[in-house]
Amino acid sequence: MNNTPVQQEIVKKYIDQLQIKDLGKASIREIVALINFIEEESKTKFIRMEMGVPGLPPAKVGVAAEINALESGVASIYPMMDGIKPLKYEASRFIKLFMDVDVEPASCIPTCGSMQGTFAALLVAGNVDSQKNTTLFIDPGFPVQKQQMTVMGHKYESFDVFDFRGEKLRAKLESYLSQGNINSMVYSNPNNPSWICMTEEELQIIGELATKYDVIVMEDLAYFGMDFRKDLYTPGKPPYQPSVAKYTDHYVLFISASKIFSYAGQRGAIMAISDALWNRQYENLQVRFGSKPFGFTIVMQVLYALSSGITHSTQHALAAMFKAASDGEFNFIEDVKEYGRKAKIMKDLFVSNGFQVVYEKDGDEPIADGFYFTIGYPGMTGGELLENLLYYGISAITLKNTGSEKEGLRACVSHVKRDQFDDLEKRLRLFNENFGH
Ligand SMILES: Cc1ncc(COP(=O)(O)O)c(C=O)c1O
Repeated sequence: MNNTPVQQEIVKKYIDQLQIKDLGKASIREIVALINFIEEESKTKFIRMEMGVPGLPPAKVGVAAEINALESGVASIYPMMDGIKPLKYEASRFIKLFMDVDVEPASCIPTCGSMQGTFAALLVAGNVDSQKNTTLFIDPGFPVQKQQMTVMGHKYESFDVFDFRGEKLRAKLESYLSQGNINSMVYSNPNNPSWICMTEEELQIIGELATKYDVIVMEDLAYFGMDFRKDLYTPGKPPYQPSVAKYTDHYVLFISASKIFSYAGQRGAIMAISDALWNRQYENLQVRFGSKPFGFTIVMQVLYALSSGITHSTQHALAAMFKAASDGEFNFIEDVKEYGRKAKIMKDLFVSNGFQVVYEKDGDEPIADGFYFTIGYPGMTGGELLENLLYYGISAITLKNTGSEKEGLRACVSHVKRDQFDDLEKRLRLFNENFGH
């Protein structure tokens, strides 16, 4: 196979140089570094699908509010630890209008990206009860959250939800929760990497079991409203962003501005802790952190120690974006629908060239088109598929990286430009001619 768009020697040289022993296990950042080298030497522009970064300009209303805030002098002033008042109010209102969930402004806390929010919440959740020292990840999932567990020295377990959709999820979850060592459950919805969305039935099961076993649900809504099968931009009217909050009061919601407002650079997010959990007192938190209430401990012990709040001007940006969305003036979902349109075209190109979509259904429904999709090719492991695609100038990450049991890749559509679709089609056709049976 010497007719590949990228010389195989170049790919192999940099895999060696970066000491990547197994491409199937390489981290996203390693793949990014690898492709940068290969692109430069081969002079071939890759179809880059490895990084989950926004591919759209930042929401204007946020940028304008942030510039105003800076010009008015906020840079010299420490913001309150638990967030500026307008942001807390607007976050709570946004959650009410787009999720139909009530969380007090007091329990809506800005964090430096959802990354910081999950770090703080998982740290505290891991200490609420000395018997419950383990977090359960409903995988596939976002690899950096596992890294957070490693950094904290916390234990975790995980399973791939692929074979446990619908009612089957109940017994699977109970097999873990009944052990008595689980303090929290984590999942993203829509899901990074597979773009599956939990059905109402599944959210209900998770919620009921969280209450039954006294476990905290960490619901990561990094892709809030981005299940484009329904139009979720109707402030104050259904359909709403589905949530476990309808089925339990043991939850923390993470709403990141990174993807929904294309605001990743400013590292702004909201952690919304249910009112019940916010006020709940845990004896073991007193022992570990010196204070009993869950919410207070997260904010005044952990976030205080981590960064003492988040960038003052970014808080004004978040407040303005939430407000404009809630006022019906900023249809943030319409702005990101381009990801779904691109995903549809790209998925069709893969499928018509011998690939299959790995995670393809929610219940009986085909999954939505969105920020990510998953692909496999018959007879190839994820690692083999990735290496082979690199010769064709196409990059992604393997599903094995994300806690999936499936062989295949996660493709992110955000950085692929429409004017690259022709190249993608040609490369996939050639790939399939060379490997197809
Ligand atoms: C599922 C998930 N959670 C969290 C994050 C990180 O969000 P933030 O940029 O707010 O830290 C991402 C970013 O890719 C993500 O995909």
